[in-house]
Amino acid sequence: MFQKLKQRWKVNGLNLALIITTFALGGSLCGYAGRKLLTLTGLEKGALWVVLYIILITLLWPLCVLLISIPLGQFGFFKRYIAKIFSRFSNKKKAPVHNVAIFASGAGSNAQQIINRFSKHPTIKVALIVCNKPGAGVLNIAKKHGIPATIIEKDAFFKGEAYVGTLQQHNINFIVLAGFLWKVPTALIKAYSQKIINIHPALLPAYGGKGMYGHFVHEAVIANKETQSGITIHYVDELYDHGAVIKQVTCPVSETDTAATLAAKIHLLEHEHFPQVIEQVLQKQNIR
Ligand code: GAR
Repeated sequence: MFQKLKQRWKVNGLNLALIITTFALGGSLCGYAGRKLLTLTGLEKGALWVVLYIILITLLWPLCVLLISIPLGQFGFFKRYIAKIFSRFSNKKKAPVHNVAIFASGAGSNAQQIINRFSKHPTIKVALIVCNKPGAGVLNIAKKHGIPATIIEKDAFFKGEAYVGTLQQHNINFIVLAGFLWKVPTALIKAYSQKIINIHPALLPAYGGKGMYGHFVHEAVIANKETQSGITIHYVDELYDHGAVIKQVTCPVSETDTAATLAAKIHLLEHEHFPQVIEQVLQKQNIR
């Protein structure tokens, strides 16, 4: 049960303990304050005191829980939690918003296409660019479109909480790897289970794995005299270029192709299919 709650709320063990403590203390405070108010106003003597008590504690509960959450460092979580409860009760039937983070390390031509596709989309928004290379082209693209960007550091990514907190601050509920060359750490995969997809510039499982990225892939394809290559869009798991395939599209490799001409063909395929596949996957996803 605790494991399920950790996944659902995307928190670690310590935060879960603090959240449960906040619920317990907030609930007790609310019960106590409700009773005290009824006594002070003399309303507890009336026949309807139970009804009044229920109304009072319903109103007091969010306040008490928020109050207790401050010293326990859980204010952010409870602010979102209570906002979610209120939005469920409100009549407005809002479509779920998919806040996407694009992880990219390079020029960002795929990121650009994805941003273009969703710039006016009613339910999908590119809300964050995550990059591990200061000066990468994708950062200029983020700037041009007014999209927040985070530069990540190796130690915090692999040995820390993998920037899960930062992603949550931006309400990210889906991650797209578009030319991101670091392996995705377990902490991030657990926090975003089945919600991270990657594009690879070859037909996996061939030409995948550590060190197989960008031009290295195309050089290997040409060196092996392959007659076709293509793209693979797949879910991300804990192994390099390994998760379930969502879509593959092929293109011919001619004898005159070089790594650069093949890269250009592959980029065209990526730009055509990746944004489209992201949209299809998101439309099927259940965002909590
Ligand atoms: C893309 O071709 C993508 O498939 C590849 O990096 C390129 C990024 O280009 N990804 C990998 O090789 C991952 N193994 P972009 O920065 O212009 O989008």
